[in-house]
Amino acid sequence: MVVRPPTVACATSRVSIIGAGNVGSTLAQRISEKNMADVVLLDVVEGRPQGLALDLMEARGVERHDRLILGTNDYADTANSNIIVVTAGLARKPGMSREDLMKTNGKIVQDVVKQAIAYSPSAILIVVTNPLDVMTYIAWKASGLPPRQVMGMAGVLDSARFQTFLSMELGVSVADITAVVLGGHGDLMVPLPRYTTVGGIPITDLMDASTIARIVERTRNGGAEIVELMQTGSAYFAPASSTSVMVEAVLLNQTRLLPVAAYLEGEYGLKDIFIGVPSRLGCQGVESILELKLTDEELAALHTSAQSVRKNVDRLNELLA
Ligand code: NAI
Ligand code: 2OP
Repeated sequence: MVVRPPTVACATSRVSIIGAGNVGSTLAQRISEKNMADVVLLDVVEGRPQGLALDLMEARGVERHDRLILGTNDYADTANSNIIVVTAGLARKPGMSREDLMKTNGKIVQDVVKQAIAYSPSAILIVVTNPLDVMTYIAWKASGLPPRQVMGMAGVLDSARFQTFLSMELGVSVADITAVVLGGHGDLMVPLPRYTTVGGIPITDLMDASTIARIVERTRNGGAEIVELMQTGSAYFAPASSTSVMVEAVLLNQTRLLPVAAYLEGEYGLKDIFIGVPSRLGCQGVESILELKLTDEELAALHTSAQSVRKNVDRLNELLA
């Protein structure tokens, strides 16, 4: 029998990941091995995405899937993607201030988003690059997309960390824990113990206030704890898993309620800002935002976090002007 490649290309979902670093390449593995979509992995470094893609392709026989993974330096290869994920950027280097990093990553994100959206004008855009909430705003502006098609990944990760620490403390399966974290991705994030449950029971009924405060603090510090341990680079397994859940919700139109950095137009008393809130994700992107009833204290914490994000967006706009 002569085996020939198919002559007619079948329509298939495609996710393009811009930035083939630790998060990008691990995400490519998650998406392809969960059989969600074909993946295009793009990086500015020549050879790296091609090598990673070939490595992932060679794993297919063992992992038993037929998803294509293409590595490239050319945006034309990303054309007609359903989803673009942006993980491109630099980590902070010695002597570099947070502001330097913000400016460098701001320029990278603006540039890669413009190039990617030119080839996939109706894509859903998911931003991962830090500082997350600021980069999501910059990406939205650069994309020209309706705000609901743009979102940032952080809340799923921060909630997953909260869940993990609670499960370790209580000795119960992480599968029975639902955690809620709002706000920006940073020290000012707002974990919400009142809405965090174990088998439907609020943790405030299961643990004393000082234990909860300790776990909340560890959650806020979750990214830094890993950086301190690793010394070079930051977390990528849990960030890639968290991003893949968002990709899956959009691709499969799951209408899942997930905490993501979404554009607010008056919800929670905030406007013209991307920040972490519970959002319903489906094939159209952020299809709606759930407004939780917050206490005065919780709302004040969310506003403090939002003020910090807004200050950085304004500062970055000045730096980029
Ligand atoms: P990494 O350094 O391993 O990968 C970044 C990749 O971006 C590199 O391969 C680099 O060559 C590429 N890149 C740089 N400029 C580019 C350009 N102009 N076009 C295309 N590619 C370009 O970093 P890692 O660990 O993958 O993290 C990526 C970003 O995600 C960082 O900003 C990190 O802080 C952020 N992050 C955010 C998280 C969140 O919760 N939102 C969680 C984890 C990481
Ligand atoms: C994290 O939280 C670095 O934002 C990244 O791990």
